[in-house]
Amino acid sequence: MNAVAAELLTALVLAALAALAGWFAAGEHGAELAALGVVSLFFLRQLWLVLRLIHWTACPLGTPTPSATGAWGAVFDGLHRRARLAAAQREQATQELNRFRRAAEALPDGVMILDGHRAIEWMNLHAEACLGLKGSVDTGSRITHLLREPEFLEYLDGPEQGRVPLELHTQRNPGRTLLIQAAPFAAGRTLLLVRDVTQMQKLATMRRDFVANVSHELKTPLTVTLGFVETALDALEDTPPAEIAEYLQAAAEQARRMRQLIDDLLTLSSLETDAPPLEDPIDVATLLADIREEVAALSAGRHRITLEIQGPRELLGSARELRSAFANLAGNAVRYTPGGGEIVLRWSADASAGGRFSVRDSGIGIAAQHLPRLTERFYRVDRGRSRDSGGTGLGLAIVKHVLERHQAVLEVESQPGRGSVFSAVFPAHRVQS
Ligand SMILES: Nc1ncnc2c1ncn2[C@@H]1O[C@H](COP(=O)(O)OP(=O)(O)OP(=O)(O)O)[C@@H](O)[C@H]1O
Ligand SMILES: [Mg+2]
Repeated sequence: MNAVAAELLTALVLAALAALAGWFAAGEHGAELAALGVVSLFFLRQLWLVLRLIHWTACPLGTPTPSATGAWGAVFDGLHRRARLAAAQREQATQELNRFRRAAEALPDGVMILDGHRAIEWMNLHAEACLGLKGSVDTGSRITHLLREPEFLEYLDGPEQGRVPLELHTQRNPGRTLLIQAAPFAAGRTLLLVRDVTQMQKLATMRRDFVANVSHELKTPLTVTLGFVETALDALEDTPPAEIAEYLQAAAEQARRMRQLIDDLLTLSSLETDAPPLEDPIDVATLLADIREEVAALSAGRHRITLEIQGPRELLGSARELRSAFANLAGNAVRYTPGGGEIVLRWSADASAGGRFSVRDSGIGIAAQHLPRLTERFYRVDRGRSRDSGGTGLGLAIVKHVLERHQAVLEVESQPGRGSVFSAVFPAHRVQS
């Protein structure tokens, strides 16, 4: 206000001075002419400052505000302050938006924002990957044109959205199971959350199958045991003791099978939960000589069993776990090789390349389609044959776990009717010369 008053006062003083000067210099009309000149000058200055203001407002941010004295100075200062405030607010809003986007990108789930026409406004990388879309191409397109599965369209239109997630299998990402949840929010927009649950579903199915398998595997021998014991009890009166002893023998055999199954299950569960194995130095030659004796007893002279050792003999790991894994592989060779066959246990190692324990047999072999599933729990190529030989179908699952715990892998080569080679391959840091 003071600045405006000063501006007016300056103009008046200037006009008065000019009128006086004009009157002294040019007589009667000189004063008017001088005053007119001063007023014109005053307006020219205003016009000049207005033009500078227009020019400044058209310039991008960061251009310094024009400087002026008096009222115009106050106007320019005020505008400058507002421009600075607006720029700071814009900067803050941009930073917050970036923070939000980064947070949404970091989410382990897919996030997508749809506008009122169901066109994609924004999506994170997980949403792109889950739905087989590409942000640079598909942003702006209607989601209903991109995902055409009827159940998805129905879900978006239905009253369920926002409450119950939809399980979706889409052509855009075949083989995956997605869980989609839509949540409407401001101005007709929709937030779409997408989660890939394929792995979770697989695990749930595996767990279900596992429980069903365990129950089945335990129930069968239990039923047989009960059958034999009941028969023995019924026959006590009029049956010779030798026959009763046979029934009890058969019952005991089934009970042993159950105990083996439970032992294997406990081994598996401790392999899954125990701390990493010790790094004890194990003398492979001694360990394999013991295992050779064990399998020779199992074979009871039906097979020719040889042992070959080559290269460094010291392996770092848990002696208990490795003995169990190696004995499993050697035991399988005996079980699945008919009498007269040949079994070779072989250790070969190299300090730089690592170590390999392999069991070669000339047995029944395995058809290629079974190979990828051999280490699954309870998987047997021939259920009846494995059961007859006392197998639980957990042996190779245990082997796989033990090897994983030693950073080793199991390799299998096999040809039906010709035999198999099962190899445990250890990394170099587990072998000592
Ligand atoms: N050397 C082999 N030759 C042919 N088939 C084999 C051999 N080793 C394993 N198999 C097949 O792989 C299946 C799984 O083997 P695994 O050792 O896990 O179970 P199992 O021998 O049946 O029972 P166990 O748990 O008592 O070892 C076997 O049932 C068998 O069909
Ligand atoms: Mg086995």
